[in-house]
Amino acid sequence: MVENVVELSAINRVYEMGEEPLYALKDLTLSIENGDYVAIMGQSGSGKSTLMNLIGCLDRPTSGRYILNHKDVFELTDDELASIRNTTIGFVFQQFNLLSSMTAIENVMLPLVYAGVEKEQRIMRAQFALQQVGLDQRRYHRPTQLSGGQQQRVSIARAIVNKPRILLADEPTGALDSHTATEIMALFDELVEQGITVILVTHDGEVANRASRIVRMRDGQITSDSRIRSQKNTPA
Ligand SMILES: Nc1ncnc2c1ncn2[C@@H]1O[C@H](COP(=O)(O)OP(=O)(O)OP(=O)(O)O)[C@@H](O)[C@H]1O
Ligand SMILES: [Mg+2]
Repeated sequence: MVENVVELSAINRVYEMGEEPLYALKDLTLSIENGDYVAIMGQSGSGKSTLMNLIGCLDRPTSGRYILNHKDVFELTDDELASIRNTTIGFVFQQFNLLSSMTAIENVMLPLVYAGVEKEQRIMRAQFALQQVGLDQRRYHRPTQLSGGQQQRVSIARAIVNKPRILLADEPTGALDSHTATEIMALFDELVEQGITVILVTHDGEVANRASRIVRMRDGQITSDSRIRSQKNTPA
């Protein structure tokens, strides 16, 4: 049976800037199945990051309905929303967004600190996440002592340390050379195999072609939505 982890219906995200309201997202409806691998493409300004931020509950729509993992996001209190965000969603950004004063493992442990996990568990789980991305040898390095690809691996470890159902990645390879980008994409493939739903934004057709479904956007709307292969992983 198909189970949707994300159900967005008739979503508008409007910015009141000048005389005319700016529709960053306009009457957008989108469902994403559990375990799927979705690439979102579109020109600069088409609303991709706005959409990702809404899916990740970093932002709320102006109107519409959002069901995340069977819960109506509008009905949640801020605390409930923060908790769901922390346990359901992992976020990876183009610029890594690591804290420069912290070591790799401290960065990876941060979400666990927020989740109230005790210290010994935090260390074990962060080490495991760093192992998963092939970086356990660099756990005491600070971001400036790591290459771009390694920093992105740390940020992926941070995103998966809470075992999220959904991994959101906004141009995760945008700041990387093509070889390093390929390595990072192989890592996403592994996460999909493990059953995590991966949603990524990319300008790179090669990156998008690794996904199972490609959604294209223009002016805050979806202009095409095609499944290019069946879901790689069919979760039980
Ligand atoms: N905080 C904001 N206030 C006002 N307008 C905004 C804000 N954030 C985004 N917008 C506008 O919403 C539209 C969509 O922006 P968004 O960042 O989602 O685009 P994008 O598709 O991610 O572009 P890019 O590929 O350049 O990252 C743009 O026209 C942008 O100017
Ligand atoms: Mg963007």
